[in-house]
Amino acid sequence: MKKIGILTSGGDAPGMNAHIRAVVRHGLNKGIEVIGIEDGFAGLIEGKFKKMKRANTANIISLGGTILYTSRCKAFHTIGGRAAAADRIKEANLDGLIVCGGNGSFHGAHLLWKEHQIPAIGTPGTIDNDLYGTDWTIGYDTAINTATEAIDKIRDTAYSHGRVFIVEVMGRNAGFIAMDVGISTGAEYIAIPETESNIDILYKKILEQGKNNRTIVIVGEGDEVGGAMAFSQILKDRFDVKSHVTILGHIQRGGSPTVRDRVLATRLGVAAVDALLEDKTDIMVGQINKELAFIQLEDTWTKKKKIINYQITLSEAV
Ligand code: F6P
Repeated sequence: MKKIGILTSGGDAPGMNAHIRAVVRHGLNKGIEVIGIEDGFAGLIEGKFKKMKRANTANIISLGGTILYTSRCKAFHTIGGRAAAADRIKEANLDGLIVCGGNGSFHGAHLLWKEHQIPAIGTPGTIDNDLYGTDWTIGYDTAINTATEAIDKIRDTAYSHGRVFIVEVMGRNAGFIAMDVGISTGAEYIAIPETESNIDILYKKILEQGKNNRTIVIVGEGDEVGGAMAFSQILKDRFDVKSHVTILGHIQRGGSPTVRDRVLATRLGVAAVDALLEDKTDIMVGQINKELAFIQLEDTWTKKKKIINYQITLSEAV
């Protein structure tokens, strides 16, 4: 392993820059050349390669987003797209690749190994926290803190005016953000895709708040009922309850990473470089019970990470 590449892929997540910094600096310390690949897999296909120096990663540990940029690349879903990427990798003499992203990105990295024998290590970078094989993903902690801060402010208005607020948080197929944020903000009801939502219970919770209706409902965007708008419409149609909708959206993806995300991103960056040096491939480096964990890339999307019990229990207690 003399020369490796790093790219960020899929939705950006706070902490990706801390991760890039760790990969570059640890790689250079080990005497490896590190190439930054811009625009994720799209840039890999186009050969957007940049030799990284220590200075390129100065002053980025506190920055949100990703200095390497990112993309959701349709071409990489095709055999031809991956073959073109493999050609660029061989032309540039890259001995291995670190892919920071979510399950779609890992799918791509896995196929690059399977079809072209390019050694690839995945690192979990997504605010959704929906990857099997790691307790936390890079960006999740920042996202739940950002959402909590925003919802605390919404609660001020809900309380002052006696209103029902339905707040939609991200999480394409998973309720991790909704569950943690629902607990941290003391929400009256939390809707997640992992459990069936019950609008009758939600209505009961609203009634329990008394005549002033001070209620916060957190809806994970992947909930089977639909998003916050769907909940609001059903409350109106079935119970004549008026509610206000806030969709937090991409505010959850930006901002300076928390301490927890910076530390996780740094640790996993160092571990990913070490994994390539130890000739590991086709695995994700994660963290379980504070220990580094290595898991086959395929398991990260074929196995389902569960919302842990303490979260369910607490949500039932409020
Ligand atoms: O995977 C992260 C995520 O923010 C999801 O929570 C959300 O569903 C999706 O990305 C949005 O993606 P985009 O920014 O491409 O619309």
